[in-house]
Amino acid sequence: MKKYTEIKDISNLQETIKDAISLKNNPFEFEDLGKHKTLVMLFFNSSLRTRLSTEKAAKNLGMDVMILNVNDAWNLEFEDGTIMSANTSEHIKEAAQVISQYGDVIAVRAFPSLTDKKKDESEFVMNSFIKYATVPIVNMESATAHPLQALADAITITELSKKAKPKVVLSWAPHPKALPQAVANSFVEMMQNMDVDLTITHPEGYELSEAITKNTPINHNQEDALKDADFVYVKNWSNYKDYGKVLSQDENWMMTKAKLGNAKFMHCLPVRRNVVVEDAVLDGEHSVVIQQANNRTFAAQIVLKQILEEL
Ligand code: CP
Repeated sequence: MKKYTEIKDISNLQETIKDAISLKNNPFEFEDLGKHKTLVMLFFNSSLRTRLSTEKAAKNLGMDVMILNVNDAWNLEFEDGTIMSANTSEHIKEAAQVISQYGDVIAVRAFPSLTDKKKDESEFVMNSFIKYATVPIVNMESATAHPLQALADAITITELSKKAKPKVVLSWAPHPKALPQAVANSFVEMMQNMDVDLTITHPEGYELSEAITKNTPINHNQEDALKDADFVYVKNWSNYKDYGKVLSQDENWMMTKAKLGNAKFMHCLPVRRNVVVEDAVLDGEHSVVIQQANNRTFAAQIVLKQILEEL
């Protein structure tokens, strides 16, 4: 693997999931692969799971890890040809090349503005690192995608599914803040590459990008969509059409134990209790969110392993 910034970078998904599950059973099998190699993790935004699971994954492979909260460093400029007389102190051209000398792999987290759709969709932060860095780039959640989370979700469904073709429902939920579409986008894209029966349910007007949803069925009736579901993935996203706006906080869309039935409950975390999902679900026997979070390590580890093998 040359980089992991989008799901398309996985050449064989089924094999990758199988190998990730094998790593989970034997996490130190390749503990020498990353010897004398360094992962540099750059955070433009907060993280709990991505930060710790990716660090753990790298260490399981014997890598050294360096972490920089980018807000503690110089303000980066991403525009070409800018007269840098305002707030930016260092251009990404230099920064990415310099960091490439310290790390063998660079992982980046950079959320969208949710105010400038065109700029967010250009993925200018991730693409600038791809363009100017001289080492492989890993996406730890960008403006429009969270492929490491989606790979962990695919591993979780593969481990837990009792059917050849489970019914998977992505259900929007209310949230007081404007959240990115990245997790939902990558989950949909990942499920489209799996042997599952995927349905998306959300209030009218909350459609994700058609470039993502393609022919996936969308049902605005949540109760109807949830019928016979095996896995229910709950996630809020802010409005895509009226970009970045919170147009609905309808609490009727919160996931409840009654609505979930016998389906497995999935969420990427962090999650707001009794806003997105009621306590009874998170504390109940059908919640698999902790297992999902554990699989973040093995998603990151299989990605880093495949990258290290090609260095
Ligand atoms: N799911 C996820 O990416 O968690 P963090 O934001 O805590 O990294």
